[in-house]
Amino acid sequence: MTATRERGRFVVLEGIDGAGTTTQILRLASRLRAEGIAVRSTREPSDGPFGTMIRHVLTGRLVAPGGRAPGWSTMALLFAADRMDHVETEIEPFLQAGGVVLSDRYDASSLAYQSVSSGREGSDAVAWIRALNRYALRPDLTIVLDVPSEIAATRRETRGEEAQLYEQNEVQRALGEFYRNLVAHMPDDRIVVLDGTGTIDEVADRVYAAFRLQHG
Ligand code: TYD
Repeated sequence: MTATRERGRFVVLEGIDGAGTTTQILRLASRLRAEGIAVRSTREPSDGPFGTMIRHVLTGRLVAPGGRAPGWSTMALLFAADRMDHVETEIEPFLQAGGVVLSDRYDASSLAYQSVSSGREGSDAVAWIRALNRYALRPDLTIVLDVPSEIAATRRETRGEEAQLYEQNEVQRALGEFYRNLVAHMPDDRIVVLDGTGTIDEVADRVYAAFRLQHG
């Protein structure tokens, strides 16, 4: 008799640029691995072919005629295509094998970034982006790291990297606001908004507690 393997868990970390999602994914992954859990950490844009193309857009190496970045709706379509490919090739197979998948960003990033950069607050932009992502696998848990945009800006400056497409302070402030209200935009998802300020260890403990509360 073959034992049916239990399906894994899909957990997403979200937040503005500099909120600490990348650091906290690493911390949660090593903590869970130390407990003997099979973990795969991944990210969006993904490391697949579509995600790689998007990274070229974000860093200004791939531009529309005139040297501008493609518009918000083109970006929403690119991110949605990358997501479907990411789910199919990386996320779903690992969940079927019973592992925990931790993703640095997922479709909440599209709702936040593409709607904010559309400049069409109150329009149907969010509904359209949700529709584009209708067939994207739902996460079991989405954890938002809430960090004031000034603190996140200081963290980004400390990294010393070139600013990417969405990294202007006014955009980041609006994104922070959007993320704090994320549950209103994704009412059917399990979303936890955590205080992302403090030391890396303090935030890591909050993230771990949120994971355990959901997954026992
Ligand atoms: P980020 O996750 O900060 O990666 P890096 O470590 O390379 O800086 O960069 C990804 C950027 O893409 C970030 O600004 C958010 C944005 N983004 C969207 O606009 N929409 C999306 O759907 C996703 C997944 C990301």
